[in-house]
Amino acid sequence: EFNILTDSHGRHHNYLRISLSERCNLRCQYCMPPEGVPLSPSSKLLTDDEIVRLVRVFVKNGVDKVRLTGGEPLLRPNLASLVRSISDALRNYNENYDANANEGGLIGMTTNGISLSRHIDDLVDAGLTGVNISLDTLCADRFMEITRRNGLDKVMRAIGDCVVAFRTRYGDVRVGKNGSGGSRVKINCVVMRGINDDELSDFVRMADERFSGDVDIRFIEWMPFNDNGWNASRFVSYKDMIDKMSREGMPLERIGDGPNDTTKWWRVRNTPVGREISDRSATRIGFITSMSDHFCSSCNRLRITADGKIKVCLFGSNEKEVSLRDIMRKHQHEDSKLQEEALGKVIHAAVQNKTFALGGHGSAENIAKAADNRP
Ligand code: GTP
Ligand code: 5AD
Ligand code: SF4
Repeated sequence: EFNILTDSHGRHHNYLRISLSERCNLRCQYCMPPEGVPLSPSSKLLTDDEIVRLVRVFVKNGVDKVRLTGGEPLLRPNLASLVRSISDALRNYNENYDANANEGGLIGMTTNGISLSRHIDDLVDAGLTGVNISLDTLCADRFMEITRRNGLDKVMRAIGDCVVAFRTRYGDVRVGKNGSGGSRVKINCVVMRGINDDELSDFVRMADERFSGDVDIRFIEWMPFNDNGWNASRFVSYKDMIDKMSREGMPLERIGDGPNDTTKWWRVRNTPVGREISDRSATRIGFITSMSDHFCSSCNRLRITADGKIKVCLFGSNEKEVSLRDIMRKHQHEDSKLQEEALGKVIHAAVQNKTFALGGHGSAENIAKAADNRP
């Protein structure tokens, strides 16, 4: 009965990303145009009940890790109660569920952090096991330039509040034996040339000083999507990032990655380096190299859009997506077993059709060409 979601390239899909809201309270320039993105009418969005039903089906088909995304997931009303239901679904249907697993979050959330401080205690209480917080600069004026809104102070405060909340709940912000693994709190920083690429070492120093290595920093290669302003001259590859940090007196050395990790992990080289940097930096430094060195061969991810479509690849074409919402609504008067079977079939078929890499575009250059960006 238990049916792992395996695609035609032998990849097992055990990690589900669920978009909880198309809306966002920031307007990051690398993500969307100033006016925002077109929104679906609310009748087309998944309800809490539909999301939980879908999670149950995915969990029965081998999913053991869920990430809540958006838009901005915190804009969803009653989020803590939804997190609790998802946490229950993971526990009830997966006998191996372990919130302390060496994975940094079996129900994670990716958020811009703006309204996180006020929710984090309830969310952790409801079962949230980790947060990834987007933060692209440590300067207030740049924060405004990049996100087109204010809020640096709020995000910084939220990071600290998350550290406290997870330490209180789990005894350590890091997972794994003696906190040897990743952090439950990670900062995501999208790097753009001429905008924030002079701040990489500052991020690491900030994390060392404020959080003593309890928070991981990840630098992300900027990916082209429609209307996100992507532009080759502003693209910085992870190799260039590492070179730049080295030239700034922060040489790095490689450490190990987890299974299916999209991140290549490094730390500051363990020798005394330069005047401003302490001998021993405890912060883990990651690079997400979707463009210059994609990690598709170990991809284990599936996505559900806020309006209930399954998306098997981040770069996959939107037209091909199947609506799980339509299937649920069509079968709503049938018993739950029939409904789950109907959904299971469609989900397996979608996974079967997943292309091997980069949504079938062939190369990062082609993704950039396919993305429709205004000058
Ligand atoms: P962890 O489980 O903590 O590793 O989270 P994550 O890195 O998978 O998720 P997060 O939402 O924090 O995303 C960080 C960056 O990775 C973003 O730039 C995402 O767009 C990118 N990313 C996430 N999933 C995928 C994926 O399946 N393919 C590619 N190419 N990039 C991805
Ligand atoms: N390229 C890379 N990362 C992006 N993010 C948003 N847009 C892009 C892009 N075009 C990041 C956000 C957030 C995560 C979900 O993805 O900053 O941290
Ligand atoms: Fe997976 Fe597609 Fe992302 Fe590659 S581009 S890692 S296949 S979702």
